[in-house]
Amino acid sequence: MKNIILIGFMGSGKTSVGIKLSYRLRHTLTDTDKKIERLYRMSISEIFERFGEEEFRNMETQCLEKLLGEPEGQIISVGGGLPMRSCNREFLKRLGTVVYLRVKACTVCTRLAADTSRPLLQGEDREEKVQRLLEKRAPVYESVAEIIVDVDEKTLDEIADEILGKAGIFFDGKGWVSG
Ligand code: S3P
Repeated sequence: MKNIILIGFMGSGKTSVGIKLSYRLRHTLTDTDKKIERLYRMSISEIFERFGEEEFRNMETQCLEKLLGEPEGQIISVGGGLPMRSCNREFLKRLGTVVYLRVKACTVCTRLAADTSRPLLQGEDREEKVQRLLEKRAPVYESVAEIIVDVDEKTLDEIADEILGKAGIFFDGKGWVSG
């Protein structure tokens, strides 16, 4: 089975949906942020502080290049800003089925109201920052996605069902197959 790649804005639920899918399909879950944090032994916030955003973006690209050499059949969740680089979008498409978890700005603001781990959303005017970034990114996410799922007000199980349905992945009595 091909990889399933989850893209979307911060707070869209990529990690939670990734866990749900990997549990259901018994497939490995890979998260690019976690891979980078492990490799550099630093949190994403520390990486932004010490090396800056551009260097973090280079780390994301390197991470995708490595994933292209790994066995398929993984659930891969990627950082919210990763699809903004055009070369990354090419890598994402080569990696497998790209699924965009589309979320509304108000949902992001509610979910991340107390979050301190996203450097791009720290400081004043969080709602405006979310609105502005989301407006810029939404068309890019849509352009690379093979499957789009609106996630607001849906449970993780509903989202997972919708992804599997749209990707044509089903349980044939013995195992999960893609038809
Ligand atoms: C970012 C999203 C974060 C993380 C970093 C930058 C972004 O990942 O990669 O803080 O630019 O949207 P999540 O989307 O998992 O929060």
